Amino acid sequence: MLVFAKIKSVQQKIKSLKKGTSIGFVPTMGALHKGHLSLIERAKKENDIVVVSIFVNPTQFDKQEDLINYPKSIDADLSLLKSVYCDIVFAPSSKEVYADDVKSENFNFDGLEFKMEGKFRDGHFNGVGTIVKRLFEIVKPNKAYFGEKDFQQLQIIRNMVKNHNVPVKIVPCEIYRENDGLAMSSRNARLTEDHRKVAPFIYKTLKLAKLKFGIENALNVVHWVENELKKQPLLELEYFEIAEEETLQTIKNKNSKQKYRAFIAVFAGKIRLIDNISL
Ligand code: PAF
Repeated sequence: MLVFAKIKSVQQKIKSLKKGTSIGFVPTMGALHKGHLSLIERAKKENDIVVVSIFVNPTQFDKQEDLINYPKSIDADLSLLKSVYCDIVFAPSSKEVYADDVKSENFNFDGLEFKMEGKFRDGHFNGVGTIVKRLFEIVKPNKAYFGEKDFQQLQIIRNMVKNHNVPVKIVPCEIYRENDGLAMSSRNARLTEDHRKVAPFIYKTLKLAKLKFGIENALNVVHWVENELKKQPLLELEYFEIAEEETLQTIKNKNSKQKYRAFIAVFAGKIRLIDNISL
């Protein structure tokens, strides 16, 4: 496994690959867990080589405190990457990526950026778009793998790739869960013991909401979830929304031709957890 911190060196290595070598790319912010590894394993199966980036991107954090506290574990990450036979790791510094100009490009994601996460995390998606576009320019992958836990991010990246004619196939990957249902996330490591115990309630509620959505109208389901969360004093609901998968528009009237998803964001103490389920 080769590890690069400089843009020029990783680009040189990628340029030196035999013509036609297919590259699968998994962008990460490190603090790797089994969910990341599942993306890498899939990328391994579908490509000749796999590149993983580790970069805690400052421009996608709306709160400085969240950026500072974001878990970092580069040595453990590199061991995990070796164990799944990752070929190339790109782990640049902020200076290498942004020089002295740590700011985002302003994107138009056709309105996707104003929904859900966009309402609560100012500038977040401009930061994500900026770094993902930049990493795609550096690595020039054939395919890039993203987990559906960040479903809005996935749709935003698909939109960016389409509108900017970026020649990368975006591959969505199913949410990887702990045995008790909690969606895997680097943030889970920061949960207190008590919050970790109650966190599976989020997915349990999503699964019941899915059942209810089959027989009730969307507004009833939304109210039901809001009430369920009130029963859990250790969890604080930020939003629960049922939206069309493609446009992320909040559902108005159920249409059997549309695909819907339910999205949730919850605070477990100071840790913000998100999850979603296809309905
Ligand atoms: O999902 C993430 O870990 C990040 O948002 C990404 C895609 C690596 C961009 O920094």
